Amino acid sequence: MRTNLPMFETERLIIREIKEDDMFDMNEYASIPYVGPMAGWEPHTSLSYTREVIKSFNKKHQFGQLGVFAIILKSEDKMIGTCELHSYIKDFKAELGYTISPKYWGNGYAGEASWPLVVWGFSTLNLKRIECSTLMNNDRSKRVTEKLGFKFEGIRRKGYMLYDNTINDLCCYSMTDDDFKKIIEVKSC
Ligand SMILES: CC(C)(COP(=O)(O)OP(=O)(O)OC[C@H]1O[C@@H](n2cnc3c(N)ncnc32)[C@H](O)[C@@H]1OP(=O)(O)O)[C@@H](O)C(=O)NCCC(=O)NCCS
Repeated sequence: MRTNLPMFETERLIIREIKEDDMFDMNEYASIPYVGPMAGWEPHTSLSYTREVIKSFNKKHQFGQLGVFAIILKSEDKMIGTCELHSYIKDFKAELGYTISPKYWGNGYAGEASWPLVVWGFSTLNLKRIECSTLMNNDRSKRVTEKLGFKFEGIRRKGYMLYDNTINDLCCYSMTDDDFKKIIEVKSC
């Protein structure tokens, strides 16, 4: 298991490294057919599949993966989703990803969980750029990136192959270290 991921606490959430015991909460939402495909992954077919997925997250630096964080809702002591920085290139860039269990959609949890990762990326990992891409029809995710302060860059046409080999256009967003500094300045005013 990777042990070097930080832990973050926000008003309503704890964001900490995912562990094998999270498979029960994760399987609850990851087996719902409309959740994973919006984020590019196949719905989970069994609890043992979820266990294998969590194990695969912990294979160090696979696909530039820094490690996946579990999002814990403090009021229920329940794991309600994941967030991560993947496609990491040291001192350069990474891509933000997140998923929230549908039962908890519409409460701003994706943004609340992702902001500490953005701060970590720029302040500690010295990234110059964080990217975030969504499928064209993923309006909820587009709103999350916009609310975080990411800027729309354009559409990467036929830029993404899903697990089922379908080819999709992607909406591309990014935040640079300069954008981040400006957001921090505004927040501290
Ligand atoms: C995308 C996702 C992470 C958003 O999580 P969330 O915590 O619900 O995000 P928010 O609460 O900030 O909601 C985002 C926007 O969607 C809207 N929304 C939330 N639930 C909705 C629903 N059931 N129907 C329609 N709109 C909804 C919200 O109103 C919000 O917009 P607003 O702030 O302008 O009002 C979540 O929908 C999800 O996990 N989807 C499946 C996986 C996925 O798409 N991951 C992202 C891959 S790029």
